Amino acid sequence: MFYDAIENRHGLPNDPFKAIVAPRPIGWVSSVSKAGIANLAPYSFFNAIAEGPHYVVFGSGGLKDSLTNIEATGEFAINIATYDLREKMNLSSARVSADVDEFALAGLTPAPCRLIKTPRVEESPAALECRLYRIVPLPDDRGEVQDWAIIGRVMGIHIDDRFVRDGRVNTAAMKLIARLGYSEYATVETAWRMRRPD
Ligand SMILES: Cc1cc2nc3c(=O)[nH]c(=O)nc-3n(C[C@H](O)[C@H](O)[C@H](O)COP(=O)(O)O)c2cc1C
Repeated sequence: MFYDAIENRHGLPNDPFKAIVAPRPIGWVSSVSKAGIANLAPYSFFNAIAEGPHYVVFGSGGLKDSLTNIEATGEFAINIATYDLREKMNLSSARVSADVDEFALAGLTPAPCRLIKTPRVEESPAALECRLYRIVPLPDDRGEVQDWAIIGRVMGIHIDDRFVRDGRVNTAAMKLIARLGYSEYATVETAWRMRRPD
């Protein structure tokens, strides 16, 4: 099948876009409001986009609390979501007002970051401390903006030493989860290797 993605008449019961751009890592974004309330929410329009220096990006569909907080404070943390933390990750996606601490809501422990004031998720095996680089509006065909890309420079990286073996991070042992389409998820449990020809 082929369809024009602008018209988006795919003829299927649901838009298949997210089922084919998959698996998408989950950036579990922590931030703090101007009033000092901690906020936590998963974003699967998330990825690393550069490694020297390190940059990450996530996409906000609508003006959500994470975006509002990051715009106000200029910082956020990305926590890594795992199979063991899946229920808590899901709880933190609840639509609640900005005065609700989503760490408390999900039963997670806020741990201090080193370089930013935003807390990270203690239970997560890895976290990235980020400073806001740029917020990029993503306009529709009429020029209206309902989506934004939030780009962050990674300033500090936490890794739980239990997952570092023989000088390498054992990604499969962390059992990272990723988003597919619909309400489907994938778990990274196996890794295989292939070297580049050169
Ligand atoms: C696994 C998962 C991935 C999500 N990915 C996104 C995303 O990429 N962009 C987005 O705007 N919302 C996404 N959401 C929904 C947000 O998490 C949800 O709207 C949340 O309430 C936003 O919280 P905030 O207002 O505290 O930022 C996702 C939800 C789940 C469960």
